[in-house]
Amino acid sequence: MTEPRPFRAAGRLVDFMRQADEPGLINFAAGVPGLDSLPTEELQAAFMRAFSHDGAKMFAYHHPEGDHALREQLAARLQTRGAKVRGPELVTVTGCTQGVQLLISILIKPGDIVAVEAPAYYGMLEVLSVAGAKVLPLPITGPDGIDLDATEELLTRWKPRALIVCAALSNPSGVTIPESKRPRLVEICRKNGVRLIEDDKRAAERAPAHISERGDFDHAPLDVSLHFLWLQHVVQSIVKRPKIRPRVYPLRR
Ligand SMILES: Cc1ncc(COP(=O)(O)O)c(C=O)c1O
Repeated sequence: MTEPRPFRAAGRLVDFMRQADEPGLINFAAGVPGLDSLPTEELQAAFMRAFSHDGAKMFAYHHPEGDHALREQLAARLQTRGAKVRGPELVTVTGCTQGVQLLISILIKPGDIVAVEAPAYYGMLEVLSVAGAKVLPLPITGPDGIDLDATEELLTRWKPRALIVCAALSNPSGVTIPESKRPRLVEICRKNGVRLIEDDKRAAERAPAHISERGDFDHAPLDVSLHFLWLQHVVQSIVKRPKIRPRVYPLRR
């Protein structure tokens, strides 16, 4: 029977990543881009433009919720994809892991249950291990991602505090939950009072909209909606409900 269990991380992801310079070894645990695929010239030109515009200010501390102009630009970008979001509702973070860690530290106490895809990204399991959460695995049964019948059964039975899902190009399975199936996932979470956390790290690399870009999501009685937009190492999270935002800022250091 599937039941929630504590996850003990056998090794840390960063330690696995230290093996990166071992010849002939490719670590598939994390989605690390090939260096030759990075647009180095464009990045260099962008850095020089920013440096000549801002000078030393580039290296100053910024507002705890993130640079205002950057958050406005990110909101505008998300709006072109249909998201109902404004700059002040965004919090920038250093990476997807930091964003999830912030939310977990606010939402999860040791012993709480968190549902994840099985298989899930190892780094996410490590975060849950540190938080002392019990992990409820939701089986991925094919190219459409987690089995929604099994998910409904398990969420109804165990009522986890949260569900972390990578709805598009999940790691390590590579699956994407089709648009047509997402409203049901949102509905299952809504019915069971499960906070839905979307790890949308690969937003820029694929077409379908975020789970939370759907109109029906806005009516869900969920405290937290989280997007991740991977944009040249800028990962941005959205914390929609005002009561969560003030609790995130002091943690974002
Ligand atoms: C699904 C998924 N989420 C999060 C991460 C980590 O993201 P970040 O480096 O922005 O913390 C990875 C890295 O491979 C990943 O595959």
